[in-house]
Amino acid sequence: MTGEEPTEDGANGADSSDVVRRDRFSGGPARGFLSSLAADERIFAADLAVDRAHVVMLAEQGILDDEDAGAILDALDEIEAAGHGALPDGEDVHAAIETAVIERVGPDGGRMHTARSRNDEVATCIRYRLRGDLLEAVEAVVGAREQLLDVADEHAETLMPGFTHLQYAQPTTVGHYCLSYERALARDTERLLGAYERTNRSPLGGAAFAGTPFDIDRERTAELLGFDSVLENSMDGASARDFLLEATTALANLATTLSGLSEDLVVFANDGYVDLSDDYSSTSSIMPQKKNPDTLELVRARAGDAHGAVSGLLTTLKGLPRAYNRDLQRATGHGWEAVDAVTEATEVAAGAVATAAWNEDLLEAEAGAGFSTATGVADLLAMAGVPFRTAHEVVAMAAEESTDPDYEAVEAAAGEVLDDPLSSYVDREAVEDALDPAASVASRDSAGGPAPDAVADQLATAREDVAADRETLADERDELADADEQLRAEVAGYV
Ligand code: ARG
Repeated sequence: MTGEEPTEDGANGADSSDVVRRDRFSGGPARGFLSSLAADERIFAADLAVDRAHVVMLAEQGILDDEDAGAILDALDEIEAAGHGALPDGEDVHAAIETAVIERVGPDGGRMHTARSRNDEVATCIRYRLRGDLLEAVEAVVGAREQLLDVADEHAETLMPGFTHLQYAQPTTVGHYCLSYERALARDTERLLGAYERTNRSPLGGAAFAGTPFDIDRERTAELLGFDSVLENSMDGASARDFLLEATTALANLATTLSGLSEDLVVFANDGYVDLSDDYSSTSSIMPQKKNPDTLELVRARAGDAHGAVSGLLTTLKGLPRAYNRDLQRATGHGWEAVDAVTEATEVAAGAVATAAWNEDLLEAEAGAGFSTATGVADLLAMAGVPFRTAHEVVAMAAEESTDPDYEAVEAAAGEVLDDPLSSYVDREAVEDALDPAASVASRDSAGGPAPDAVADQLATAREDVAADRETLADERDELADADEQLRAEVAGYV
C-alpha cells in the first residue's frame, strides 16, 4: 500500500523542537503510525489551493482582516516554493502547512484554520487532486480508443478468425474486433467521467462535520477551487468517500477491459496473428530465440492492482460510523494506487496496439478454420424456410464428417435430415458463398456486425463519440484552469 513511512524525528525537515503545534498528542511512540505526511505529498498542491481559497473567502466575508490574509497567503507562497520536503513535522500535510504558516506569520497564522477542520479540508484535497488524475486517466483511455479506431480503419476488411471458448467460432474482421474493445473503452470513459462529475463537488466549509457559527460562503470556496457544486450536508461532505470508491471501481472496470485486450493480444502474438513491436516485447535471459509479450502481460496484471484497491477500499469503508474516523486516512492510498496503475497501463496498451503489425495472410488463411462458416450455412438454410434447429442439425452432421466440408458434403448431410434435396432450398453458388469466409463476413451486415458497411457505420459512430469525449475533456480542463487563474488573481490582491 502507499507508504505512510514513519516521519521519525524531523524526518520531514524539522526537529520536533521546531514544531509550533503545542499539543500533548504529538510525540508518542505511535507518531509515525499516525502520520500521513509522507503520503500526503500527493495532495500538497491541493492543500495549498484549498488554504488559499479558504483564506480569500474568510477575508471577503470579513472573518479575517486583509492584513492577516495577506501575511498568510504570502507564507503559503513561500511554503509552496520550498516544497513538501521542507515542511515541518506534522500529523499530516494540513497540520504541517499550518505549522509552517505560523512559523512565518506568528500566532495570527493560526487564523487560517478558522471555520474549518482537517476533516472537510482533507476531503476537499482528495477531490481536488483526484479530479486532475481522473482527467489524465480519461485522456489515456481516449488515446487508446483512437489507436484502436486507426487499426479498425486500416483493417476494416482484414479477415480473421473469431473465437468463443478459445475455439474457432465464426469469421470476422480485425476492424470488427478492434471496435469491440473501443466500444468497451467508450463505456469505461463514461464511467470515469461519471465518477469525475461526482468527485467535482466541494465539502469545504462543512468543518469537522457539524458546520460552523462563522458566516462563511461555501459557494465561493467551491467556485475558487473550480468545483461544480457544494455538497450541502456538512456531515455527508466530511464522511463521504463514495466518490473515491466510484472512481476506483471505474478504474478497475477499465483495467478489466484492458486485461482482456492484453490476453487476446498475447494469444494472437503466440499464434503469429499479430507481431508486437520490439518496444513492447522482451526477451529471455537464457533463451535467445524468445520474443515475449511481457508488456501486455503486465497490463493484464495491473487489473490485479486495481481490483486489490477496490477490495481495500470497500473493506476499509464498510461499516464506518458517521462522521469522521481515522480509517479514512488509509482509504485514500487505494485510490491513488488504482489511478496510477491503470492510467499507465492504458497508455502502454495504446502504444502496443498502435505499433503492432497484423499478419493479414495468416489471419485470412485461418478465418475459415475449424468449419467456422458453419453458422452461415445453417442461416442460409433457415432463410430458405428450413426451421433453424433442423438447419443446425444438417450442418452439425456435415461438421461431424469433415472440418472443411464442401457443397457435396453439405448436400449429403441434408439428404439425411431433410425430406427434399438441398437444391430445392438453395442453389450451389449460395452454399459455396456461405462456406467462403469473406462472403460469410459480408453477409452479416446487421447493425453492429462485421460486414464492411456495418463496420463503416460503427467506425463513424465511434469517431463521433471520441471527438465528443475529447471536447468534454478539454472543457473540464478549461474549467479547472480558469478557476486556478481566478484563485491566483484573488490571492494577488492580498499579497
Ligand atoms: N490526515 C487525515 C486523513 O487523511 C485528516 C486528518 C483528520 N484527522 C482527525 N483526527 N480528525 O484523513
